[in-house]
Amino acid sequence: MPTLHLNGRPVACKAEDDTPLLWVLRGELQLTGTKFGCGIAVCGACTVHLGGTPVRSCVTPLGAVGGQHVTTIEGLQDADPRIAAAVRAAWLKLDVVQCGYCQSGQIMSAAALLARQRAPSDADIDAAMAGNLCRCGTYPRIRAAIHEAAAQLAAA
Ligand code: FES
Ligand code: FES
Repeated sequence: MPTLHLNGRPVACKAEDDTPLLWVLRGELQLTGTKFGCGIAVCGACTVHLGGTPVRSCVTPLGAVGGQHVTTIEGLQDADPRIAAAVRAAWLKLDVVQCGYCQSGQIMSAAALLARQRAPSDADIDAAMAGNLCRCGTYPRIRAAIHEAAAQLAAA
């Protein structure tokens, strides 16, 4: 029975190694903050962190996770409280969310960007967020919110 290091604690799961991590998170573990969009790694709705790097959980087999730490939107606050707080505050201040479906994936990609680059340029943001689609077209607010979160982190 595989053990996931998930959101800071070991979790036993029953799924086979070839089961997509997304199905394990949503179906077996009831962590439904991570969304299913396309299932083929083109929309970013299923983004989680694997060892701190954003990955598409819909195309990540459970067997490929190994001993790496998995963080979902539910665990972001505990994994990196400063970045989580800055991103949350910026998202609220700039009223980023429209329907919300893509937003956990957007936030996971944004948080990973800010963890590795505290003052990203527009080009950095566009490159990091290119794989996260938003059918509501919130892209300008997402970009502004990442700049806002970066400013908050710099001022803290
Ligand atoms: S559901 Fe994984 S990238 Fe779209
Ligand atoms: S806010 Fe609706 S899909 Fe992005």
